[in-house]
Amino acid sequence: MKTTKFLSACLLLLPFMSCTQVSDTKDKAVENKVDKLLSKMTLEEKIGQMNQISSFGNIEEMSVLIKKGEIGSILNEIDPVRVNALQRVAVEESRLGIPLLIARDVIHGFKTIFPIPLGQAATFDPSVAEEGARVAAVEASSVGIRWTFAPMIDIARDPRWGRIAEGCGEDTYLTSVMGAAMVKGFQGDSLSSPSSIAACPKHFVGYGAAEGGLDYNSTFIPERRLRNVYLPPFEAAANAGAATFMTSFNDNDGIPATGNGFILKDVLRKEWGFEGIVVTDWASAKEMIPHGFAADDKEAALKAVNAGVDMEMVSYTFVNKLPELVKEGKVKEETINEAVRNILRIKYRLGLFDHPYVDEKKPSVMYADAHLAAAKRAAVESAILLKNDKRVLPLKETVRTVAVVGPLADAPYEQMGTWVFDGDKTHTKTPLAAIKEMYGDKVQVIFEPGLAYSRDHTTSGISKAVAAAARADVILAFVGEESILSGEAHCLADLNLQGAQSELIAALAKTGKPVVTVVMAGRPLTIGKEADLSAAVLYSFHPGTMGGPAIADILFGKEVPSGKTPVTFPKMVGQIPAYYSHNNSGRPAMRNETLLKDIPVEAGQTSLGCTSFYMDAGFDPLYPFGYGLSYTTFKYGDVKLSADELKKNDVLIVTFDLENTGDYEGTEVAQLYVRDKVGSVTRPVKELKRFTRVTLKPGEKKTVTFELPVSELAFYNINMEKVVEPGDFGLWVATDSQSGNEVSFKVVD
Ligand code: NOJ
Repeated sequence: MKTTKFLSACLLLLPFMSCTQVSDTKDKAVENKVDKLLSKMTLEEKIGQMNQISSFGNIEEMSVLIKKGEIGSILNEIDPVRVNALQRVAVEESRLGIPLLIARDVIHGFKTIFPIPLGQAATFDPSVAEEGARVAAVEASSVGIRWTFAPMIDIARDPRWGRIAEGCGEDTYLTSVMGAAMVKGFQGDSLSSPSSIAACPKHFVGYGAAEGGLDYNSTFIPERRLRNVYLPPFEAAANAGAATFMTSFNDNDGIPATGNGFILKDVLRKEWGFEGIVVTDWASAKEMIPHGFAADDKEAALKAVNAGVDMEMVSYTFVNKLPELVKEGKVKEETINEAVRNILRIKYRLGLFDHPYVDEKKPSVMYADAHLAAAKRAAVESAILLKNDKRVLPLKETVRTVAVVGPLADAPYEQMGTWVFDGDKTHTKTPLAAIKEMYGDKVQVIFEPGLAYSRDHTTSGISKAVAAAARADVILAFVGEESILSGEAHCLADLNLQGAQSELIAALAKTGKPVVTVVMAGRPLTIGKEADLSAAVLYSFHPGTMGGPAIADILFGKEVPSGKTPVTFPKMVGQIPAYYSHNNSGRPAMRNETLLKDIPVEAGQTSLGCTSFYMDAGFDPLYPFGYGLSYTTFKYGDVKLSADELKKNDVLIVTFDLENTGDYEGTEVAQLYVRDKVGSVTRPVKELKRFTRVTLKPGEKKTVTFELPVSELAFYNINMEKVVEPGDFGLWVATDSQSGNEVSFKVVD
């Protein structure tokens, strides 16, 4: 596998490159072929291309439809022999021989499972995201899959929403960079390479803002916020060349995304020049009926296609209703032609017309050594050290016996995380297996899970775990969530540890032995109590196939943690939405809050000072965005700016020294935040604008440089124009979103 360091440096800039590059690439030869083929197609054949079905198993039944030209794409076929059989019908037996586009949800790996996307985001390393997507593409394409429904780049600021696991967290810039990297990884150097699969940034748009963190729920995102926060990752993905986009399930301010011409036509096509396929989410055209936006299938098809949808996933309103809608003149044939052009263009670009079949005889690439090594690197980089009192980690040589406990210690299926259709748990390496295999000669391992699974309320096993702990020098407690507790439709109103896991940690802590808590979960959980009882906390968003070896190496000091929180960890659910990039209230929290326990009885109405905080939780979260410790320590030197005053087309050069002041070689994710002090509309208190991973040996010091074009300070102003407004800015270079000393600069006209 090629290392992608150089590429990843470019990827940091990709989100902000101009979109015209996409349309400049329109290949004349391909356009000619598309038009020629289109001119031969009947209306029914055109509409057939716009129909995506989910495999219903029976090849003969599907073949009948394919032969008639009624299917453009099939999802959920993963056997190369069956894929070829279906493709053969399309290519050799349908009138025009148009190949099928075979799709599958390959979200964080096909067979070799990488950390869930939220975990990948914790690496702050686009090369990890790109490599993960590349591995997924190589494995998936080897069975004939040429289209994945990923990356998911929904900004998510509510961890109750189970799908927070599938995206890159709360931040617009981080998501833009990681999402663009994933697009590059899936699509490779050229879409036409047999190992490239078309990416599908989803869900367009706003899905992550579901009210109450409840899946499929309505969103209310005003246009300015849509443009400043939710759209940029999609624009970055389009600029990275994403071949397809998927509409989202939600209605935003009353308009379901699948029927929203403003986002699908005005923004995506006209503003960004997107020329790929827009597919609905699963039956989201038909779901406009229960939304109350369409009366029946016919109106659903009408509204979706006229809004700019090209292909319908699985709900058949297009194939059933578009012919009559065109005949009645309610849908113009040119609208259909445009949709079919978009579909054929991508089929040509994927090389499907020239190479429709997959090589069934090719040796398997699944779980290749290089793939496992890349998955392990991703899992190492994604682990976040949240606490490390008295430097209990890495485990010292004096540790002779470890008690491995908890329901996630040896749960090969669960650690793969959500959206794993094809990963095989027998290939997963759990922490227990890895510790025994890799460190069994150094320590004696006593395994006593205490609980059978994360929701287990049976407390009878806890005493056995405690007895095991009493015989050990250190307790390694693996807790968290089963994979089914996050992902689509798996929302939670309570984010405390499930089952009796909290009781388990409390009982272990009572032994007086140091408790190292390792959390494997699909979301940030409210683990304040357990963190207090633990000497160390390592958070590993479901880490995938190679999670065990990665965690074992971190615990034993072969690897040094470097992950950072890609999302704010709230203390309590009631603090949600808690995200660092909020606007300021007129009465911001002063961080000297009087909490419930401090408030006298019969206190006066204004006794709390009238600022913005919760009496029970205060204002600050448990862990802020961008937070994560190392085994070593880093010292940030003073920040120097290339100028105090800049013009709009200048580039601000930010330099600072970063020094490793500890005993281990380690990697720090240095982060650059800015604040636009006064705007024509209020602006976030901080916005991440750059980050970089810097590796330093003990005592080593490096000068680090960030380049920030002033143009990247632009936002949608009071007139909904994207502009840089002159004025004062604050800037921080820091280890997380809450640290660092502010320096200032000015932008002038
Ligand atoms: C519904 C999900 O929302 C979407 O993310 C997924 O790609 C499709 N189903 C296809 O499985």
